[in-house]
Amino acid sequence: MKAAVCERYGPPEVVQIRDVAKPVPGDGSVLVDAVATTVNSGDARLRALRVPRGLGFPMRLRLGLTKPRNPIFGFEVAGRVAEVGNAVTRFQPGDRVVASRGFDFGCHAEHVTVAEGGAIARIPENVSYQDAVALCFGGATALHYFRLGKVAPDEAVLINGASGAVGTVAVQLAKHLGAEVTAVCSGPNADLVKELGADHVIDYTTEDFTRNGQRYDVVMDNHGNAPYGRVKASLTPGGRFLMVVGNLWQMLAAAGQRATISGSAAIDADSYQTLMSLAERRVLRPVIDSLLPFPQMVEAHRRVDGGHKVGSVVVKFQRSE
Ligand SMILES: NC(=O)c1ccc[n+]([C@@H]2O[C@H](COP(=O)([O-])OP(=O)(O)OC[C@H]3O[C@@H](n4cnc5c(N)ncnc54)[C@H](OP(=O)(O)O)[C@@H]3O)[C@@H](O)[C@H]2O)c1
Repeated sequence: MKAAVCERYGPPEVVQIRDVAKPVPGDGSVLVDAVATTVNSGDARLRALRVPRGLGFPMRLRLGLTKPRNPIFGFEVAGRVAEVGNAVTRFQPGDRVVASRGFDFGCHAEHVTVAEGGAIARIPENVSYQDAVALCFGGATALHYFRLGKVAPDEAVLINGASGAVGTVAVQLAKHLGAEVTAVCSGPNADLVKELGADHVIDYTTEDFTRNGQRYDVVMDNHGNAPYGRVKASLTPGGRFLMVVGNLWQMLAAAGQRATISGSAAIDADSYQTLMSLAERRVLRPVIDSLLPFPQMVEAHRRVDGGHKVGSVVVKFQRSE
């Protein structure tokens, strides 16, 4: 099968499409024929080892000291179940699914194995493969942080970095939860975030939300330029800071602050099922920055590296749906 292989850390050009062995599902796993995947900000960060300060060495220990131990990146895949292991009871060949292998990666490939008990959910009939996969990375992150942050109806929620993969789902989820949403993004994305449900939009090129005198019950930072020290005056008493991006020192400091929530978002079947159910009911609308064919993986990584994609970069395999 074909896979996008990264044999060293570096720029988008380290990604090469190669022939590799097709994986074989174990007893408790399913084999998915991939229809669509994403190149997300996590893939691009890890490919380049461009991680927040202090996290470079821990990340090398996890991924491979001098080169990626698993050279096929890719967090998520949408496709059709082709084979099931002997012990699998909940899925069968032909099922349309969306799935993640988390930090085991391997989803930038034509075929992917996923544990039945892992992050895997059926895709509703009225949701396309590309829409399903586009929601997963940002959606699982937003769900995780909003659950821990206990976002409640009528709360004022500010989302910094509102037009990316995490932000576009976060705006919609916060609105769905009944919050009053302020979205921070650049001017050209203002109309989009309003359409997604934002009540107020702040253009970060003309206004600094930490200095406008407003207070919020929840501030979510998806960009990494609004650490707790900057945002604490913008939080109401009892307000929560969702630090989706932070360096090692900020994470260590967060451990001692009840107001701050940080760390890796959990990716599990429960959050995928929730996202698919919300997509089926049209509560969530996927935002797709670009749709590229699999041979253009390098281009997909370049687009993500630009730091201004709008929603998700989706990559499609040549396969009938
Ligand atoms: N903790 C976790 O488990 C976890 C999970 C997922 C993602 N993440 C991290 O979360 C971050 C966001 O991920 P993503 O996939 O949503 O990224 P993304 O799609 O690249 O979005 C980045 C967003 O940041 C905005 N932005 C750029 N400069 C900004 C500025 N100065 N102020 C405010 N916003 C600005 C961009 O908006 P404009 O285009 O309008 O400038 C863009 O919408 C990444 O760093 C990722 O690694 C962490």
